[in-house]
Amino acid sequence: MTEELQKARDYELEADKKIEAAQRPLLHLSSRSGWMNDPNGFSYYQGKYHMFYQYHPYSNQWGPMHWGHAASSDLLSWEYLPAALAPDMPYDKNGCFSGSAIELEDGRQLIIYTGVRKEEQAFGEAKDIQVQCIAIGDGVNYEKYEDNPVITEKDIPKGASIYDFRDPKIWYENGSYYCVAGNCTEDRDGQILLFRSKDAMNWKFDKVLVKNNKRFGCMWECPDFFELDKKRVLITSPQDMLPEDLEFHNGNGTLCIIGDVDDEGNFTEENCHAIDYGIDFYAPQTVLAPDGRRIMIGWMQNWDTIGHKAETPFYWFGQMSLPRELSIKDGRLIQKPVRELEKRHVREVTRKNVRISGVCNLSGIQGRIIDMTLDIKPFDIGRMYRRFELRFADNGKNYSAVSYEPYESILKIDRKYSGTRKAAIHQRRCHVRSADGALKLRLILDKYSAEIFVNDGEQTMSMTLYTDTDADGINFQADGDLLMNVTMYEMR
Ligand code: FRU
Repeated sequence: MTEELQKARDYELEADKKIEAAQRPLLHLSSRSGWMNDPNGFSYYQGKYHMFYQYHPYSNQWGPMHWGHAASSDLLSWEYLPAALAPDMPYDKNGCFSGSAIELEDGRQLIIYTGVRKEEQAFGEAKDIQVQCIAIGDGVNYEKYEDNPVITEKDIPKGASIYDFRDPKIWYENGSYYCVAGNCTEDRDGQILLFRSKDAMNWKFDKVLVKNNKRFGCMWECPDFFELDKKRVLITSPQDMLPEDLEFHNGNGTLCIIGDVDDEGNFTEENCHAIDYGIDFYAPQTVLAPDGRRIMIGWMQNWDTIGHKAETPFYWFGQMSLPRELSIKDGRLIQKPVRELEKRHVREVTRKNVRISGVCNLSGIQGRIIDMTLDIKPFDIGRMYRRFELRFADNGKNYSAVSYEPYESILKIDRKYSGTRKAAIHQRRCHVRSADGALKLRLILDKYSAEIFVNDGEQTMSMTLYTDTDADGINFQADGDLLMNVTMYEMR
């Protein structure tokens, strides 16, 4: 093992001991120590789900990227494994960037990732050169391939940037390995490159799978491409987006394109929309579970929101979203929290036909690790309510909220009053589908985050929050008159 990897492993082992369980989310994977970004190598291997992640164990800031590692049987309780990769080779000395993993026929696990090295260019400018590299291992220890890098600037089409060429996602189909990688043209227009290989080691450029054509942001990061409900889905996270109504916001966003692939492997696009409409979500990656479910996890942060932290920072920064089961309905990507979550339900509180007008507290409905579903509709079908608000993580002074205005069909999440002292993005809105003011919301709180699933997963809104965990109040407010059914579970 190289000195760099040993050092990271020794460091994280000690750092992890200093972090109390109370300081970590219960059901979300957080960084073992220091900084975490993108999910990497999300895979099912030797009877367990494996999640690797972009990792800088030594501080709460992004730094030379390592790969952290954890495994889980149920996607909710994660056991940390030793760091898998460190930037310790000439071709990745400035970072082991994002990538993916697959099981080889001989039972070993292959990781394909982006190696980054800074090099002085003409006119003295130092720039990151990005190449694709391989490491092979047994689920704990990984050896970098002696013929790395396996995909380089020589393999990409003319006009493709060598500085923005990263995040390979691998899969196996009809006797070949394939991988997609994020790229942009020299004038910074995003595109997805497709490569093909017989053995996962020797790769050939196949085609430009999708071109942005200046539609959504610039560089396209972290692609994934998979079959779902007889369609093909491309997910990617574009940088530097311009806002489009409430569908896409400025900065780093997420996007899915749903379409079909013809016999020559050409992808035709049919529909396209944002993946998460909240504040903290980026770079999602999927795995095909042994039971056929396509499951997605995203980094529950965003580059534009990393300034929002706990007042007294923990020894970790960065957590993953809940794993979400994907499907397609009416041309849209549907996301539902994995059904494993239901095994974590303990105490149930259900209230039916509660009339809400003004502020309402319901006894037994409170908590910071909860799974709560509510249906609302106008009390009197002929008299629409004007606004509904659900407040949570509330201690009378601080709270976060999700609110709905039926006349506009706009749902908003808001953490402005959550106790944060930083001026940052604290609100987001999206249009939702609602007939006659009826709406279904599922809110999952896990100490430092809130994820909202709208209308059985038609849309999601995710955000982190760092309000003291004893702020566990929940209340409902209506301007007007509405009827609500609510079921809440505490979770263990
Ligand atoms: C996305 C990303 C990837 C890159 C990694 C670096 O969040 O920018 O494109 O591989 O993070 O940490």
